[in-house]
Amino acid sequence: MAVAIEAVKLRKEYNSRRKRVVALDGVDISVETGRLFSFLGRNGAGKTTFVKILSTLLLPTSGNAFVLGHDVVKETAAVRDSIALVPQDVRPYFHLTPREHSYNYLRIRGHSREEAKSRTDWVLHEMGLERFADIPSLQLSGGLQQRTMVATVLATMAPVIFLDEPTLGMDPLARREVWKLIEEIRQKGSTIFLTTHYLDEAERLSEQLAVISRGRILFKGTVPELKVEVGFDYRAILNRNAPKTLFDGFTNIVEDGGRILVLTDREGALSLAEAASRANVEISVGPVTLEEAFIQLVGSSEEDES
Ligand SMILES: Nc1ncnc2c1ncn2[C@@H]1O[C@H](COP(=O)(O)OP(=O)(O)OP(=O)(O)O)[C@@H](O)[C@H]1O
Ligand SMILES: [Mg+2]
Repeated sequence: MAVAIEAVKLRKEYNSRRKRVVALDGVDISVETGRLFSFLGRNGAGKTTFVKILSTLLLPTSGNAFVLGHDVVKETAAVRDSIALVPQDVRPYFHLTPREHSYNYLRIRGHSREEAKSRTDWVLHEMGLERFADIPSLQLSGGLQQRTMVATVLATMAPVIFLDEPTLGMDPLARREVWKLIEEIRQKGSTIFLTTHYLDEAERLSEQLAVISRGRILFKGTVPELKVEVGFDYRAILNRNAPKTLFDGFTNIVEDGGRILVLTDREGALSLAEAASRANVEISVGPVTLEEAFIQLVGSSEEDES
């Protein structure tokens, strides 16, 4: 399969008078054409920096990066012709409506009037924006403004689409509309590069993912592979007041926002569930989610470093 996005030993340092930040510290990433790839990491891990370099908005300090074989530094025009991007924290033009955003953007990108109109009608419908299509963005809620930006970019069906936290601030139903459309556009052949903090979203959408921490890649692979990497496929969640004797024999116990998370295997989770129900203690057991695996992976790597 051809490679759509490639980074080789990519490094980015931000140098200000007060300090030097290494945002990307030798990042190697390769995304095959037609895939949906999620890039996950904590705040400040380096995700947006990576997206900006790959979309020609920022120069790397060293290393190389390519989109569809074009060097992002030396062949910016060719790269720009083949990509579309929803940057992080973007806002629509306040005096333009959702319809005008999509239509004008498609026209600027060279599509005919007919094509721009039919794609706009389609994307507004798919994103549940029809009711709001002719309202100036200024009068739309934050989530609807974000939907407008995502609709505008997805309507391009560009060969490579970068989405930097596209569903930020959207309600759960709106997010599902975005997921459906992303999936549809991927099936039509676009490669999608997604960053998100919603790990249910990443779990649902990604075929491949990478986890970055402090500018370094911690993991590359599929969601099931990440779960294997952390070494636990089941988990039990208990109230933090649950008696400690219940999970005495378990070694992997994580404090998770006021709850206790016991990472284990299927047998372990089931025996813990039995013990808890005998003791009349509330418990919830199930397969490890991507979010739980992520917390374990990034948490233990940060512990190792400090
Ligand atoms: N223009 C800049 N000048 C100096 N430092 C910067 C600049 N932009 C980003 N950084 C720093 O680079 C690091 C990576 O930032 P980046 O925005 O890439 O993170 P991120 O993974 O996108 O985080 P978030 O999830 O919060 O969006 C952070 O330490 C950040 O403070
Ligand atoms: Mg970011």
